[in-house]
Amino acid sequence: MQRERLTMPVKPKVFVTRVLPEAGLKLIKEACDADVWTDPLPPPAAVLKQRILECDGLVALLTDKIDGNLLDKAPRLKVVSNFAVGYNNIDVPACTERGVCVGNTPGVLTDATADMAFCLLISAARRVVDGHQYSQSGKWKTWEPLGHLGQDLAGKTVGIVGMGRIGYAMAKRCHGGWDMRVLYHDVYRNEKAEKDFGAKQVDLDTLFKESDFISLHTDLNENTQGMIGAAQLAKMKKSAVLINTARGPLVDQKALGQALKAGTIFAAGLDVTDPEPPLADDPFLKSPNLVVAPHIASATFSTRNSMAEICAKNLIAGVTGQPLPAWVNPDVKRRA
Ligand code: DGY
Repeated sequence: MQRERLTMPVKPKVFVTRVLPEAGLKLIKEACDADVWTDPLPPPAAVLKQRILECDGLVALLTDKIDGNLLDKAPRLKVVSNFAVGYNNIDVPACTERGVCVGNTPGVLTDATADMAFCLLISAARRVVDGHQYSQSGKWKTWEPLGHLGQDLAGKTVGIVGMGRIGYAMAKRCHGGWDMRVLYHDVYRNEKAEKDFGAKQVDLDTLFKESDFISLHTDLNENTQGMIGAAQLAKMKKSAVLINTARGPLVDQKALGQALKAGTIFAAGLDVTDPEPPLADDPFLKSPNLVVAPHIASATFSTRNSMAEICAKNLIAGVTGQPLPAWVNPDVKRRA
């Protein structure tokens, strides 16, 4: 009698470069043979290279650089699923050339990020962190008519650089809640923002000259890197505040430090820096008119869960030949 040999289906092999929220990790572990990097710091480049040799899929974070050199070490790789909406850490053309799909996590972090942009705006304008440190230091002796003065928000002008999903959500907060006039700069026109908030599309110089609050929401690429330098900062009002929740390298940080120190602008609120993290002893961090958060705009429980779910679904779709739910390069000719 012939005996039939039963073989277990082989699960696709994937490398996950950090522990993700369980909502996503569970899906990944059910569908794939997952190797999860459990250190709190990212895998060094050499380790990443080694770990993806045999992999069909990769979950990357914005701290993992994915380029052609790395991809050449992973001939089976079918998908890179980024745990972020931004994907400037990935060389997308290099992925496309090699037939590798790229996924990201748009939509689910829009409100959390706009909330953080607004939080930084009000914190920097009203000197909340400076006041907190003052209260802790024992320097608070009395109520001071001339102490801790900041900027009003109501009825001012906000300038949005990059009127995409997050820029729109920030404009909604500023216009709907604080009755601000909205200017925006973008290569595309956003008719919805124009209709909903009376937003006006202007050139960058006009936006920098006329705005009381400037909030950056554009992606980082070769055209936007360093777009906010000394020349732009010099156009800002002395009372104006710069907010960046997008990517640190959009701003020339040295020029920003000088503007803050010289008091040619009132304050800045950053969720992103260049480099990231900043050097602990960088005097820039000590500027009293600067508020810095450690890249936490999407860091709410439900947002990170939703990001993990989309990221897992992109990964699984990539390794099983399905369309990715959030697909950065849908025109890719996929690897078999
Ligand atoms: C992103 O998603 O691009 C953020 O920077 C991190 O959530």
